[in-house]
Amino acid sequence: MALSRLVPWVLLLLPIVLCDLLRPPRVTAKNVHKSHITHHSLNTEEEERQHQAEHGWHPTEDTCAKALNVSKVALMFLTRGYVQHHDTWELWFKDVQGSLPLSAMQAEGCTADAISAAGHSCGMSGGPKVLHQQHLFSVLTHVGAAEGFKGFPKESMFHGTVVPTTIKTQWGTHSLTKAILLLMETALEEPLNQRFVLLSESDIPLYPPAVVWLQLTSEHKSRIHSCGDHFYLSKAGRWVGDLASSKLQAQHWRMSDTWFMLIRRHAEVITQDIEIEHEFASNCAYSGADPTGWRRCFSDQHLFASVLSYKGMENETACDSAITNSGSGDSQRPHDFEVTEVTYQRLVGLRNPDETICKDAEAIRVAAGQVAHVSIFNATVCHSHVPGFGGELAPSCPLFARKFGPDVADAVSQLMGVTALLRSPFLSQMD
Ligand SMILES: *[C@@H]1O[C@H](CO)[C@@H](O)[C@H](O)[C@H]1NC(C)=O
Ligand SMILES: *[C@@H]1O[C@H](CO)[C@@H](O)[C@H](O)[C@H]1NC(C)=O
Ligand SMILES: *[C@@H]1O[C@H](CO)[C@@H](O)[C@H](O)[C@H]1NC(C)=O
Repeated sequence: MALSRLVPWVLLLLPIVLCDLLRPPRVTAKNVHKSHITHHSLNTEEEERQHQAEHGWHPTEDTCAKALNVSKVALMFLTRGYVQHHDTWELWFKDVQGSLPLSAMQAEGCTADAISAAGHSCGMSGGPKVLHQQHLFSVLTHVGAAEGFKGFPKESMFHGTVVPTTIKTQWGTHSLTKAILLLMETALEEPLNQRFVLLSESDIPLYPPAVVWLQLTSEHKSRIHSCGDHFYLSKAGRWVGDLASSKLQAQHWRMSDTWFMLIRRHAEVITQDIEIEHEFASNCAYSGADPTGWRRCFSDQHLFASVLSYKGMENETACDSAITNSGSGDSQRPHDFEVTEVTYQRLVGLRNPDETICKDAEAIRVAAGQVAHVSIFNATVCHSHVPGFGGELAPSCPLFARKFGPDVADAVSQLMGVTALLRSPFLSQMD
């Protein structure tokens, strides 16, 4: 290769390398403090068992979604303690309480029997809580580390969503990857779950739930970076020979944001892999002893994308995708939003709206005609023409945003309550 062709590459790589070298160690006193907090200290196995029975995993069968074979989007919350936007999420799910995709009813032929059966099992009949009364999403939580976390209170929407096996997580370590795998394994037990989204306690949604559901179920590629075309972005310096196995080789090394959306087949492939995960557990570790940061390896940013690359599934991932907007910071050091920044304009801005790629208003308008409340279904409504969905938002358009801390939670839910940011303008929404 001619030297002149190499020069631009060197110039491109140099700042990245320098940046990595010059970065101060990311572990601050605050991080260390938080990451060593134990989950909950229970003395005996019996206490642990009781606690689990009371505050753990209580999945309820969604007879409505099952009867209609509705593809569900699993929202998997990887948290440190309580989900900080409880009220916002509750408002969000209420927007699709009792709502069904026209496409699911049309697949049943819109028969009078199907409409009547839906009337009996969907919405309020689903159960006492908002999560039981919506049929588009599954919710799972993994609470890995929290000061005095005692489980979600009975009245919380998140009660019963803590996955049956949890581990104590520590920032920057492989334990986060393990926790994500536990979430995915549990989510895969529900055959209706077709999309798997990883969220944190400080995430908020940017669109009404009908848009998120339609968008993600219409996408057939995972929002994770497994493509080999951005080699300089994969932090090649973090690859250590020890990671090589009979399977994984340096050419499969990938880097992606921790926060992803996976299609079901990819979630299956990733959870079925044991060998590569094992290598990462031993060799992809954060080491505080390395002040340059050059060899720091964060397995949650590399393992999943690399496994998909090894499996030859790179082209089934959307390379320029993003599921969560990290504000003006990068994904590793997201911007912490302040109360004064919680405005309608600012949050809409996080959708990166434009006229060609992220047509947010158009997506909301089109979605409103494709999801309807069970009570308004009759033969005419059911047979309404459903145009294809999916051209409005590219996979690079974020659907969620972080990082919104507990101090802005009230401001966010108040804003969501008074604006139409998260509400679908359903044409014939009824209570
Ligand atoms: C239910 O939907 C899934 C995902 O679209 C599909 O793979 C499966 O075959 C469907 N099952 C039935 C019984 O129609
Ligand atoms: C991905 O690549 C493989 C092999 O090159 C090809 O057979 C397959 O059709 C591609 N899939 C997509 C979704 O482009
Ligand atoms: C179906 O519902 C729509 C909207 O509520 C209504 O305008 C229409 O007359 C109904 N059609 C029948 C056949 O009942």
